[in-house]
Amino acid sequence: MITAPNRTLIAPSLLAADFARLGEETRAVEQAGADWLHLDVMDGHFVPNITFGPLVVKALRKHTKMPMDVHLMIAPADPYIVAFAEAGADNISVHPESGPHLHRTLQLIRSLGKKAGVVLNPATPVQAVENVLDLTDIIMVMTVNPGFGGQAFLASQLTKIAKLREMIDDSGRDIVLQIDGGITPKTAPLVLEAGADCLIAGTAVYGAPDYAEAITALRAAGPRPAQAPLASGG
Ligand code: DX5
Ligand code: ZN
Repeated sequence: MITAPNRTLIAPSLLAADFARLGEETRAVEQAGADWLHLDVMDGHFVPNITFGPLVVKALRKHTKMPMDVHLMIAPADPYIVAFAEAGADNISVHPESGPHLHRTLQLIRSLGKKAGVVLNPATPVQAVENVLDLTDIIMVMTVNPGFGGQAFLASQLTKIAKLREMIDDSGRDIVLQIDGGITPKTAPLVLEAGADCLIAGTAVYGAPDYAEAITALRAAGPRPAQAPLASGG
């Protein structure tokens, strides 16, 4: 289980970093106060862009102690999950649309000792995760269509974030609610108000002149409102 955060977690997305200096860019955000490193894996098939695979994750493992938060935008995902686990991923998140058996995929991730995440595209309803909460450590809400950094935040997703907050709190489970896409100091307060625990930010961190200032600005958007106590052992 992931311990429920008592402050907003910030996960810079390496997608917006300088790809010729990934090790240095990883260390830089860790020193700047980041909590998790977000790694966007794209296959040019599930999403219209290609990034990197397990070899890059493995190479970066030795550059950081931060949990490596791997976001798989590949289909099928199942055949590659062991490789990402062995590469040193701590969290592995999948889109329900990337395979026919989400329950089995989450079981596989958990069986490898990793945190299992479910990612909801803008058009994907909250019901996609409702029946697998017992196998879910992270729910990631896409506030852009996956595939590219630097897109405009979709405010239409705020209602969904609030619904998921309620679903998680009602379940009493220790599930982190993450938001991915278009996060800036302007949009961060909106998602935190709706109940987010963890902000993923590419452009807002790596596009800023000072990473520490950028991370502080996002975190200063405030902690999410107090939640009901979590059931022990959830
Ligand atoms: C998009 C990725 C995001 C992306 C966010 O498919 O999942 O993690 O890096 O980039 P920004 O923060 O620039 O919207
Ligand atoms: Zn992502």
